[in-house]
Amino acid sequence: MKSIEELQKEVRRLLKERNAIMIAHNYQRDEIQEVADITGDSLGLSQAAAETDADVIVFCGVHFMAESAKILSPHKTVILPRIDAGCPMADMITADQLRAEKLKRPGVPVVAYVNTTAEVKSESDICCTSANAVSVVNSLDSDRVYMVPDKNLSQFVAAHTDKKMEWWEGFCITHEKMRPDELKRVRAAHPDAEFICHPECNPSIVELADHVTSTSGMYKYAKESTKKKFIIGTEMGILYKLRKENPDKEFILASDSLICPNMKLTTLEDVVESLSHMTNTIEVPEEIRIKAKATLDRMLAVPRE
Ligand code: 13P
Ligand code: SF4
Repeated sequence: MKSIEELQKEVRRLLKERNAIMIAHNYQRDEIQEVADITGDSLGLSQAAAETDADVIVFCGVHFMAESAKILSPHKTVILPRIDAGCPMADMITADQLRAEKLKRPGVPVVAYVNTTAEVKSESDICCTSANAVSVVNSLDSDRVYMVPDKNLSQFVAAHTDKKMEWWEGFCITHEKMRPDELKRVRAAHPDAEFICHPECNPSIVELADHVTSTSGMYKYAKESTKKKFIIGTEMGILYKLRKENPDKEFILASDSLICPNMKLTTLEDVVESLSHMTNTIEVPEEIRIKAKATLDRMLAVPRE
Protein backbone atom coordinates (compact mmCIF):
# COMPACT_ATOMS: atom_id res chain seq x y z
CA MET A 1 0.00 0.00 0.00
CA LYS A 2 1.30 3.46 -0.91
CA SER A 3 1.80 6.13 1.76
CA ILE A 4 -0.12 9.42 1.74
CA GLU A 5 3.04 11.24 0.62
CA GLU A 6 3.60 8.83 -2.28
CA LEU A 7 -0.01 9.19 -3.40
CA GLN A 8 0.16 12.99 -3.15
CA LYS A 9 3.33 12.93 -5.27
CA GLU A 10 1.56 10.82 -7.86
CA VAL A 11 -1.42 13.21 -7.86
CA ARG A 12 0.91 16.18 -8.45
CA ARG A 13 2.68 14.36 -11.29
CA LEU A 14 -0.62 13.43 -12.98
CA LEU A 15 -2.02 16.95 -12.57
CA LYS A 16 1.01 18.34 -14.37
CA GLU A 17 0.89 15.70 -17.08
CA ARG A 18 -2.78 16.41 -17.81
CA ASN A 19 -2.58 20.23 -17.42
CA ALA A 20 -5.15 19.77 -14.68
CA ILE A 21 -6.13 21.77 -11.63
CA MET A 22 -7.34 20.16 -8.41
CA ILE A 23 -10.11 21.98 -6.57
CA ALA A 24 -11.29 20.79 -3.13
CA HIS A 25 -14.15 21.86 -0.91
CA ASN A 26 -13.41 22.82 2.69
CA TYR A 27 -15.11 19.59 3.91
CA GLN A 28 -12.74 17.24 2.07
CA ARG A 29 -10.32 14.90 3.85
CA ASP A 30 -7.16 16.62 5.18
CA GLU A 31 -4.81 14.85 2.75
CA ILE A 32 -6.97 15.96 -0.21
CA GLN A 33 -7.07 19.60 0.94
CA GLU A 34 -3.30 19.45 1.48
CA VAL A 35 -2.53 18.58 -2.15
CA ALA A 36 -5.30 20.63 -3.84
CA ASP A 37 -4.39 23.75 -5.86
CA ILE A 38 -7.43 25.58 -4.53
CA THR A 39 -9.63 24.96 -1.50
CA GLY A 40 -12.68 26.99 -0.68
CA ASP A 41 -16.41 27.37 -0.17
CA SER A 42 -19.02 26.80 -2.86
CA LEU A 43 -18.83 30.42 -4.09
CA GLY A 44 -15.03 30.54 -4.22
CA LEU A 45 -14.88 27.21 -6.02
CA SER A 46 -17.49 28.28 -8.62
CA GLN A 47 -15.40 31.36 -9.33
CA ALA A 48 -12.16 29.37 -9.49
CA ALA A 49 -13.79 26.91 -11.91
CA ALA A 50 -14.95 29.81 -14.09
CA GLU A 51 -11.50 31.40 -14.21
CA THR A 52 -9.01 28.56 -14.60
CA ASP A 53 -7.23 27.99 -17.91
CA ALA A 54 -6.33 24.37 -17.13
CA ASP A 55 -7.65 21.72 -19.54
CA VAL A 56 -8.94 19.49 -16.78
CA ILE A 57 -10.65 20.26 -13.47
CA VAL A 58 -10.49 17.55 -10.82
CA PHE A 59 -13.29 18.46 -8.44
CA CYS A 60 -12.97 16.95 -4.99
CA GLY A 61 -16.40 17.63 -3.57
CA VAL A 62 -19.88 16.43 -4.38
CA HIS A 63 -21.78 16.04 -7.65
CA PHE A 64 -23.52 19.44 -7.83
CA MET A 65 -20.19 21.23 -7.40
CA ALA A 66 -18.51 19.37 -10.27
CA GLU A 67 -21.64 19.94 -12.33
CA SER A 68 -21.40 23.71 -11.67
CA ALA A 69 -17.76 23.62 -12.84
CA LYS A 70 -18.85 21.88 -16.07
CA ILE A 71 -21.69 24.37 -16.56
CA LEU A 72 -19.23 27.26 -16.29
CA SER A 73 -16.42 25.57 -18.26
CA PRO A 74 -18.06 23.36 -20.90
CA HIS A 75 -14.90 22.91 -22.96
CA LYS A 76 -12.89 21.59 -20.03
CA THR A 77 -12.93 18.02 -18.83
CA VAL A 78 -14.38 17.95 -15.32
CA ILE A 79 -13.65 14.90 -13.18
CA LEU A 80 -15.49 14.00 -9.98
CA PRO A 81 -13.16 11.31 -8.59
CA ARG A 82 -16.06 9.58 -6.81
CA ILE A 83 -19.03 9.73 -9.15
CA ASP A 84 -21.24 8.46 -6.32
CA ALA A 85 -20.47 11.48 -4.07
CA GLY A 86 -23.82 13.25 -4.08
CA CYS A 87 -25.54 15.78 -1.86
CA PRO A 88 -28.74 14.44 -0.25
CA MET A 89 -30.07 18.00 0.12
CA ALA A 90 -29.58 18.71 -3.61
CA ASP A 91 -31.57 15.57 -4.37
CA MET A 92 -34.50 16.69 -2.19
CA ILE A 93 -36.07 18.69 -5.02
CA THR A 94 -36.48 17.66 -8.66
CA ALA A 95 -37.06 19.96 -11.64
CA ASP A 96 -40.65 18.63 -11.91
CA GLN A 97 -41.32 19.53 -8.27
CA LEU A 98 -39.88 23.00 -8.82
CA ARG A 99 -41.99 23.51 -11.96
CA ALA A 100 -45.09 22.67 -9.90
CA GLU A 101 -44.10 25.20 -7.20
CA LYS A 102 -43.51 27.89 -9.85
CA LEU A 103 -47.03 27.40 -11.21
CA LYS A 104 -48.35 28.28 -7.74
CA ARG A 105 -46.34 31.54 -7.73
CA PRO A 106 -46.39 33.18 -11.17
CA GLY A 107 -43.81 35.95 -11.49
CA VAL A 108 -42.10 35.19 -8.17
CA PRO A 109 -38.32 34.86 -8.69
CA VAL A 110 -36.74 31.54 -7.74
CA VAL A 111 -33.39 31.51 -5.95
CA ALA A 112 -31.59 28.17 -6.13
CA TYR A 113 -28.93 27.40 -3.55
CA VAL A 114 -25.92 26.01 -5.47
CA ASN A 115 -26.69 22.71 -3.72
CA THR A 116 -29.13 21.80 -6.52
CA THR A 117 -28.96 19.73 -9.70
CA ALA A 118 -28.20 21.43 -13.03
CA GLU A 119 -31.80 20.82 -14.08
CA VAL A 120 -33.17 22.62 -10.99
CA LYS A 121 -30.76 25.50 -11.65
CA SER A 122 -32.01 25.64 -15.23
CA GLU A 123 -35.54 26.19 -13.88
CA SER A 124 -34.42 28.95 -11.47
CA ASP A 125 -33.77 32.67 -11.91
CA ILE A 126 -30.57 33.06 -9.92
CA CYS A 127 -28.25 30.94 -7.76
CA CYS A 128 -26.84 31.72 -4.34
CA THR A 129 -24.39 30.15 -1.92
CA SER A 130 -24.32 30.39 1.85
CA ALA A 131 -21.79 33.23 1.44
CA ASN A 132 -23.98 35.49 -0.70
CA ALA A 133 -27.60 34.35 -0.13
CA VAL A 134 -28.75 37.58 1.56
CA SER A 135 -27.08 39.79 -1.08
CA VAL A 136 -28.61 37.73 -3.89
CA VAL A 137 -32.14 37.93 -2.44
CA ASN A 138 -31.80 41.67 -1.78
CA SER A 139 -30.62 42.23 -5.35
CA LEU A 140 -33.94 40.99 -6.77
CA ASP A 141 -36.56 43.39 -8.05
CA SER A 142 -39.45 41.66 -6.26
CA ASP A 143 -40.95 41.81 -2.76
CA ARG A 144 -41.60 38.07 -2.81
CA VAL A 145 -38.90 35.43 -3.31
CA TYR A 146 -39.07 31.62 -3.50
CA MET A 147 -35.97 29.72 -2.40
CA VAL A 148 -34.92 26.08 -2.90
CA PRO A 149 -34.01 23.59 -1.51
CA ASP A 150 -32.77 24.49 2.00
CA LYS A 151 -35.42 25.52 4.54
CA ASN A 152 -32.70 26.45 7.05
CA LEU A 153 -30.73 28.76 4.76
CA SER A 154 -34.06 30.25 3.59
CA GLN A 155 -35.09 31.02 7.16
CA PHE A 156 -31.69 32.55 7.83
CA VAL A 157 -32.17 34.81 4.79
CA ALA A 158 -35.75 35.62 5.87
CA ALA A 159 -34.34 36.96 9.14
CA HIS A 160 -31.94 39.27 7.26
CA THR A 161 -34.12 40.70 4.50
CA ASP A 162 -37.32 42.74 4.21
CA LYS A 163 -38.56 40.54 1.38
CA LYS A 164 -41.29 37.98 1.92
CA MET A 165 -39.56 34.61 1.71
CA GLU A 166 -41.16 31.28 0.80
CA TRP A 167 -39.17 28.05 0.52
CA TRP A 168 -38.93 24.33 -0.20
CA GLU A 169 -38.61 22.15 2.91
CA GLY A 170 -35.22 20.53 2.14
CA PHE A 171 -32.28 20.36 4.53
CA CYS A 172 -28.71 19.11 4.94
CA ILE A 173 -28.83 15.78 6.76
CA THR A 174 -25.46 16.49 8.40
CA HIS A 175 -26.15 19.98 9.79
CA GLU A 176 -29.71 19.07 10.74
CA LYS A 177 -28.39 16.41 13.16
CA MET A 178 -27.14 19.03 15.63
CA ARG A 179 -29.40 19.39 18.65
CA PRO A 180 -29.73 22.48 20.91
CA ASP A 181 -29.39 20.45 24.16
CA GLU A 182 -26.13 18.89 22.91
CA LEU A 183 -24.84 22.33 21.91
CA LYS A 184 -25.82 23.86 25.24
CA ARG A 185 -23.78 21.16 27.02
CA VAL A 186 -20.72 21.91 24.84
CA ARG A 187 -21.16 25.66 25.43
CA ALA A 188 -21.43 25.11 29.19
CA ALA A 189 -18.19 23.08 29.13
CA HIS A 190 -16.41 25.91 27.25
CA PRO A 191 -17.94 29.18 28.49
CA ASP A 192 -15.00 31.18 27.10
CA ALA A 193 -15.57 29.98 23.52
CA GLU A 194 -17.50 31.69 20.73
CA PHE A 195 -19.96 29.55 18.79
CA ILE A 196 -19.81 29.91 14.99
CA CYS A 197 -22.21 27.96 12.79
CA HIS A 198 -23.23 27.46 9.17
CA PRO A 199 -26.63 28.74 7.97
CA GLU A 200 -27.52 25.15 6.95
CA CYS A 201 -28.02 24.52 10.70
CA ASN A 202 -31.56 24.47 12.07
CA PRO A 203 -32.84 27.87 13.35
CA SER A 204 -32.85 26.36 16.89
CA ILE A 205 -29.03 26.16 16.54
CA VAL A 206 -28.58 29.40 14.60
CA GLU A 207 -30.29 31.38 17.39
CA LEU A 208 -27.60 30.17 19.82
CA ALA A 209 -24.71 31.29 17.59
CA ASP A 210 -22.39 34.27 18.03
CA HIS A 211 -21.72 34.30 14.29
CA VAL A 212 -23.37 32.56 11.29
CA THR A 213 -21.39 32.26 8.06
CA SER A 214 -20.23 30.08 5.15
CA THR A 215 -17.19 27.84 5.49
CA SER A 216 -14.79 30.45 4.08
CA GLY A 217 -16.47 33.07 6.25
CA MET A 218 -15.48 30.96 9.24
CA TYR A 219 -11.79 31.02 8.27
CA LYS A 220 -11.90 34.78 7.95
CA TYR A 221 -13.77 35.26 11.22
CA ALA A 222 -11.48 32.93 13.22
CA LYS A 223 -8.35 34.60 11.83
CA GLU A 224 -9.52 38.14 12.56
CA SER A 225 -11.09 37.49 15.97
CA THR A 226 -9.18 38.27 19.15
CA LYS A 227 -10.91 35.29 20.83
CA LYS A 228 -8.82 32.18 21.44
CA LYS A 229 -11.46 29.46 21.52
CA PHE A 230 -14.26 28.55 19.09
CA ILE A 231 -17.01 25.96 18.96
CA ILE A 232 -17.59 25.08 15.30
CA GLY A 233 -21.01 24.16 13.96
CA THR A 234 -20.27 22.73 10.54
CA GLU A 235 -18.75 19.68 8.86
CA MET A 236 -15.54 18.51 10.57
CA GLY A 237 -13.36 18.90 7.41
CA ILE A 238 -13.19 22.61 8.16
CA LEU A 239 -11.00 21.95 11.21
CA TYR A 240 -7.96 21.10 9.05
CA LYS A 241 -7.35 24.64 7.78
CA LEU A 242 -8.76 26.38 10.88
CA ARG A 243 -6.11 24.68 13.03
CA LYS A 244 -3.34 25.09 10.44
CA GLU A 245 -3.97 28.82 10.03
CA ASN A 246 -4.51 29.53 13.74
CA PRO A 247 -2.03 27.43 15.74
CA ASP A 248 -2.54 29.60 18.83
CA LYS A 249 -6.33 29.10 18.84
CA GLU A 250 -8.52 26.18 19.91
CA PHE A 251 -11.35 24.75 17.78
CA ILE A 252 -13.94 22.38 19.20
CA LEU A 253 -16.44 20.56 16.97
CA ALA A 254 -19.97 21.25 18.25
CA SER A 255 -21.07 17.65 17.67
CA ASP A 256 -19.49 14.33 16.67
CA SER A 257 -22.32 13.93 14.17
CA LEU A 258 -20.91 16.70 11.94
CA ILE A 259 -19.48 14.40 9.27
CA CYS A 260 -20.83 14.43 5.71
CA PRO A 261 -20.35 10.85 4.43
CA ASN A 262 -20.47 12.04 0.82
CA MET A 263 -17.75 14.64 1.32
CA LYS A 264 -15.57 11.96 2.90
CA LEU A 265 -15.89 9.45 0.04
CA THR A 266 -13.06 10.86 -2.09
CA THR A 267 -9.60 9.44 -1.37
CA LEU A 268 -6.19 10.14 -2.94
CA GLU A 269 -6.44 6.70 -4.59
CA ASP A 270 -9.67 7.82 -6.30
CA VAL A 271 -7.96 10.96 -7.60
CA VAL A 272 -5.02 8.93 -8.96
CA GLU A 273 -7.33 6.36 -10.54
CA SER A 274 -9.66 8.86 -12.23
CA LEU A 275 -6.84 11.12 -13.47
CA SER A 276 -4.81 8.18 -14.78
CA HIS A 277 -7.70 6.89 -16.89
CA MET A 278 -9.65 10.16 -17.29
CA THR A 279 -12.76 8.49 -15.91
CA ASN A 280 -15.72 9.81 -13.86
CA THR A 281 -16.14 12.82 -16.12
CA ILE A 282 -19.21 15.05 -15.75
CA GLU A 283 -21.51 15.88 -18.65
CA VAL A 284 -24.49 18.26 -18.66
CA PRO A 285 -26.95 18.29 -21.62
CA GLU A 286 -26.36 21.53 -23.56
CA GLU A 287 -29.89 22.90 -23.35
CA ILE A 288 -29.90 22.52 -19.53
CA ARG A 289 -26.34 23.82 -19.28
CA ILE A 290 -27.10 27.08 -21.09
CA LYS A 291 -30.04 27.88 -18.80
CA ALA A 292 -28.20 26.77 -15.65
CA LYS A 293 -25.19 28.89 -16.68
CA ALA A 294 -27.36 32.00 -16.98
CA THR A 295 -28.63 31.29 -13.43
CA LEU A 296 -25.07 30.93 -12.10
CA ASP A 297 -23.80 33.96 -14.07
CA ARG A 298 -26.52 36.15 -12.55
CA MET A 299 -25.26 35.14 -9.11
CA LEU A 300 -21.60 35.77 -10.00
CA ALA A 301 -22.56 39.32 -11.10
CA VAL A 302 -24.16 40.22 -7.73
CA PRO A 303 -21.86 42.44 -5.65
CA ARG A 304 -21.30 41.30 -2.04
CA GLU A 305 -23.10 43.49 0.58
P1 13P B 1 -20.20 26.48 1.74
O1 13P B 1 -18.84 25.90 1.56
O2 13P B 1 -20.57 27.30 0.58
O3 13P B 1 -20.34 27.18 3.04
O4 13P B 1 -21.27 25.25 1.68
C1 13P B 1 -21.36 24.25 2.58
C2 13P B 1 -21.89 22.99 2.02
O5 13P B 1 -22.63 22.29 2.63
C3 13P B 1 -21.47 22.53 0.73
O6 13P B 1 -22.04 21.32 0.50
FE1 SF4 C 1 -24.87 18.21 1.05
FE2 SF4 C 1 -24.81 18.75 3.66
FE3 SF4 C 1 -22.97 17.16 2.64
FE4 SF4 C 1 -22.97 19.79 2.07
S1 SF4 C 1 -22.62 18.85 4.07
S2 SF4 C 1 -22.68 18.08 0.64
S3 SF4 C 1 -25.17 20.18 2.03
S4 SF4 C 1 -25.16 16.75 2.71
